[in-house]
Amino acid sequence: MALPKINPENTNAWNALKAHFNTLKDTHLKDLFTTNPDRAKELSLTWNDFFVDYSKNRINTETKKLLLDLANEVKLKDAINAYFSGDIINETEGRAVLHTALRSKKTSIAKVDGENVIPEVYQVREQIKAFTHAVVSGEKKGYTGKAFTDVVNIGIGGSDLGPVMVTEALQYYKNHLKTHFVSNVDGDHVQEVIKELNPETTLFVIVSKSFTTQETLSNAETIKEWFLQTATQKDVALHFAAVSTNTKMIDQFGIADENVFPMWDWVGGRFSLWSAVGLSISLAIGYTNFEALLDGAQEMDSHFKDAALEDNLPVILGLLTVWYNNFFGADTEAVIPYTQYLHRLPAYLQQGIMESNGKSVDRFGNATTYQTGNIVWGEPGTNSQHAFFQLIHQGTKLIPADFIGYKRSLHGKTDHHNKLMANFFAQTEALMNGKTFTEVTTELKAQGLEENEINKLAPFKVFEGNKPTTTILIDQLTPKSLGALVALYEHRIFVQGVIWNIFSYDQWGVELGKQLAKTILKDIENSEITKHDTSTMQLLQKFKN
Ligand code: F6P
Repeated sequence: MALPKINPENTNAWNALKAHFNTLKDTHLKDLFTTNPDRAKELSLTWNDFFVDYSKNRINTETKKLLLDLANEVKLKDAINAYFSGDIINETEGRAVLHTALRSKKTSIAKVDGENVIPEVYQVREQIKAFTHAVVSGEKKGYTGKAFTDVVNIGIGGSDLGPVMVTEALQYYKNHLKTHFVSNVDGDHVQEVIKELNPETTLFVIVSKSFTTQETLSNAETIKEWFLQTATQKDVALHFAAVSTNTKMIDQFGIADENVFPMWDWVGGRFSLWSAVGLSISLAIGYTNFEALLDGAQEMDSHFKDAALEDNLPVILGLLTVWYNNFFGADTEAVIPYTQYLHRLPAYLQQGIMESNGKSVDRFGNATTYQTGNIVWGEPGTNSQHAFFQLIHQGTKLIPADFIGYKRSLHGKTDHHNKLMANFFAQTEALMNGKTFTEVTTELKAQGLEENEINKLAPFKVFEGNKPTTTILIDQLTPKSLGALVALYEHRIFVQGVIWNIFSYDQWGVELGKQLAKTILKDIENSEITKHDTSTMQLLQKFKN
């Protein structure tokens, strides 16, 4: 079954939400709490070791009901079934979307073109396991007989962001191998990484779903050239591994067959960390931890597939985005993890969310008449509090924010963790409550200020509050809970794409820039510049001179 095609604006729920928005838009969150003492309990969900409190959002019971009506009217349940069944829901590329199969139980069935793909998935998982064991134990050696000490992941986009985000996030679980990531085609990036490496003890993993990506192939060639300054061509087979759907191109690079890890076109690049694209994760934290990451994601998959819409975390969070994006007109959302380990999560989510839902044509092929993809950004707390929080508190824009925090830290530094979490809770409270004129003047009076000074200062010190936040409180940062968290956001992206009636799993917009870069590269390398607009011509001339 294809995804249902329903224009959300034509649903009864959308129109009811529009009317409802007018009745609620000026209501302060504080008043919503005053009028309903059970609000916190009613608008929160417990799932495994997650507690999600979404009561500090500008919704009431009626909003929730109407958003769920919208989900029903666009047939979200049918869409979820089509997604998990391996149907061709990526219609513009003619592909299924089955990253969920990568973390499915061994006994489950996921069919693509009538074939169950689970046995193949598990075959590759066995290959990852054996390879990881051989490298981590030192059994697998480099060309001078030394064990590997360093692993370099060469890839970009989904072939980089997932591995780097997870490896950083799970640093606490890391073994002795040092992991490095080369992504940008900027030669200074690869050079800075190479300068720390010893070719005798470094393993390179080239990750590219297509194996045609300019950045990755250039970096792989540069690294190979550097490697061959001390080693020979036959040593390439010992030091290089590759992950791709394009095994023909890998052959040409000289990679040994046993170091080639297949992937499949039904796995989108930005959802691929669960496949062999995550090889550098497995190498960094060991296969058992990698498997736990997959298990966590699998549990979230089951929740998303089976839970009723009103108790379903990705559904509720996805609907909240639609509420702010389409009714409040909020353009952006912040994701603030209160752990330094998740410092790459916002960058990772930017690709997942913005490459997926940055679309302006609906599933009928028509231009959408409503807003789609939300912009996402963020940085860990408490650093972000000292950077951009001012604008969230007192700026003119509405920026809903997700706060992600953990009950327990990993190193057990209770004093630090209590301070960190005090900030975590304080910020969402401050964003909601703000500070009234009366509170400000009372405070200034207590500080001994004169009335005229108080009147002058007070307007600047008033915080309107009423800024929405969602709190995701998790027991501890483990491979399993991280897997579940990432899967939660993946499914949230799906929910939003279904509501907006767009195709979330292609990325044609990225292709145009790639094509033009090829033409411009020729202009840079050749003496003649071909025809461009006058601004581009002028810039190219300046660059070449
Ligand atoms: O940016 C476009 C894109 O196709 C991403 O979707 C993908 O993750 C990235 O390029 C890298 O592609 P590949 O893994 O084929 O090298």
